[in-house]
Amino acid sequence: MMGRFLSIVVRGCIVLVGLGLLGAPVFAQGNGPARTPPMGWNSWNHFACKVTEADVRSAADALVSTGMKSAGYIYVNIDDCWQGTRDEKGVIHPNGKFPDMKGLSDYVHAKGLKLGIYSSPGPKTCAGFEGSLGHEELDAQSYAQWGIDYLKYDYCSFQGDFAAQMAAYEKMHEALEKTGRAIVFSLCQYGMDRVWRWGPSVGGNLWRTTDDISDDYNDMAYIGFGQNGLERFAAPGHWNDPDMLEVGNGRMNKDEYLTHMSLWCLLAAPLLAGNDLSKMTPDTLAILTNPEVIGVDQDALGSQGHRVAQEGQLEVWVKLLADGSKAVGLFNRGESVMPVTAYFRDIGVGDTASVRDLWEKKDLGVYSSSFTAQVPKHGVVLLKIK
Ligand code: GLA
Repeated sequence: MMGRFLSIVVRGCIVLVGLGLLGAPVFAQGNGPARTPPMGWNSWNHFACKVTEADVRSAADALVSTGMKSAGYIYVNIDDCWQGTRDEKGVIHPNGKFPDMKGLSDYVHAKGLKLGIYSSPGPKTCAGFEGSLGHEELDAQSYAQWGIDYLKYDYCSFQGDFAAQMAAYEKMHEALEKTGRAIVFSLCQYGMDRVWRWGPSVGGNLWRTTDDISDDYNDMAYIGFGQNGLERFAAPGHWNDPDMLEVGNGRMNKDEYLTHMSLWCLLAAPLLAGNDLSKMTPDTLAILTNPEVIGVDQDALGSQGHRVAQEGQLEVWVKLLADGSKAVGLFNRGESVMPVTAYFRDIGVGDTASVRDLWEKKDLGVYSSSFTAQVPKHGVVLLKIK
């Protein structure tokens, strides 16, 4: 962990010098995958290394049966710990927990879902399984043959300087392109070297901006509220990734999960549920599938929100939407209920504006110059104002 932070500091200097990064980022806009932030499920936050094919099949089943698929959750992503060994030709084979990757992919695809997988540019993954170093093309071909639609490529054991790191990500990007299959490319190197500035240039559709999230309010809030300032690096096809969702994993309360989901949607973050979908409470499902809240995340403009006002523990965040309205989050990071005010001049709407509560799915009326709500401890009120 410490090594990662050190390399962020040390390598950050190299990036500044090496790329002279004072200008605006250049995005390769195309018609590739991930025009809106990817939505789906990932095995890591709940199952970690214990994940099996049966868990992945049941996640796919649950995406359909709970209505999450209809809400937009399409990717079923296997994280670390699926890998077995390479054969004499260097071809990677899954371990005994995943006896039939093609069969699993057929199963997932038959449900109208997509399958994701995980590897590393280094020799080993973070959990010590086989990485892709020196086998990039072979691995990309295996993924394509299995019908994989998404690759999370996790730095882990990779060794090398900044140039080597960029080259390693680019190498896998080229290998994926060569397969001719549309595969979302998810960079995971914890935000080192200001990855948001160069992620698109190595084919990244999304890039982790931070170290790992955990199911803890302070940790989630540190990551989520810390995203302010990265908004200019997000655009259709290229997203900042503050890590997967912890909603429903049990260690935050309802207000804290509402904050987590609201913030991730204002951030135009990928929405990868990380809970056990086969055992969800109605509250968890409601937080994950509110269509108006997801609409903020998936808005076609692809603009990432940012903080427009802060007073102690109270924050107001705004995301511009394609129809010209604003999604507005009133957040209370404090320890008791507090009134939070959004001033219309701060959020860039006219003197008079109509206000809708997105979690409550309720129009609140027309207001002049500001709107104030009582916001619970660690909670949020999420609005659409126009
Ligand atoms: C790293 C990543 C996590 C997860 C694990 C798997 O810690 O950041 O998201 O993929 O590796 O080992």
